[in-house]
Amino acid sequence: MSGRANRVWTGGSAILARVGDPRPVGVFDSGVGGLTVLHELRRQLPGERLLYLADLEWFPYGPRPLRDVRHRALDIITHFAELDTKLVVIACNSATAAALNTARERFDIPIVGVIAPGAQAAVEATGNGRIAVISTEATLHSGEYVHAIKEANPGCAVLGRAAPELVSIVEAGDADTIRADGALAPLLDELFAWGADTLVLGCTHYPLLLPSLLRLIGGRSMAVVDSAATTAARVQRIVAVNRLQRDGEDVPPQLAVTAAPRRFLDSARRIFGEELAAPEVVRIGDCGLLAVAP
Ligand code: DGL
Repeated sequence: MSGRANRVWTGGSAILARVGDPRPVGVFDSGVGGLTVLHELRRQLPGERLLYLADLEWFPYGPRPLRDVRHRALDIITHFAELDTKLVVIACNSATAAALNTARERFDIPIVGVIAPGAQAAVEATGNGRIAVISTEATLHSGEYVHAIKEANPGCAVLGRAAPELVSIVEAGDADTIRADGALAPLLDELFAWGADTLVLGCTHYPLLLPSLLRLIGGRSMAVVDSAATTAARVQRIVAVNRLQRDGEDVPPQLAVTAAPRRFLDSARRIFGEELAAPEVVRIGDCGLLAVAP
């Protein structure tokens, strides 16, 4: 830290700290998955204004080439920068894998991803050092979970599996159904046969499958780890260290989508168990926001 009391260094860039910073925190995912992170952010940072963008126009990210997901994520972060957000949370593993490093090179605002927090939680949870990670294809192919887990403890073994069908199941509102059980059961059997004692939910859609997952794990021993709580804890630390806190009362999150507002609102209300205002529909294009429709 430099000698000036109000100057704080994060990731190589200097940020002028303010007291009672009212600017919002931007959070995004391809769909409803990132709401699992938003939920924790709300719980752990109740005084912050949270803007959530679900990029349903581009959903799903998982099967797309990492290059395309990176491009899209950078456009979304540009959009948030134009809205003067003080911090951005990439509440999507695929977008974190594709874009976190480049985004940190390009933008001065602090940017937090979900992979390192999830990896850290897994390393702390495992007893036998055998960690399974289920994710989208994009996240699997990036290798980012293997890097992050082995960065935290190179002695751990990692088994990665892509489970893209689980994303569609959750987005369709079928998370706690026989359809979800049917997709999860063979996957869990394979992970148990490999000897995993810890399962990382490497996609922010997957925590919504917990009821089904816990039912199927039954009496077997498996720690299930997701990055929502650890990511929110990291955001809280970054906000505190950089003196970015908003000292205000709790306000409901502001929701936005790039498509399918009705379907999104139904899922969001189900997840939060409360009435939420209808999402704004925004268009994201090259170099950020093109137009905003009511
Ligand atoms: N929720 C996302 C993730 O964590 C992506 C799902 C998708 O769009 O494929 O990877």
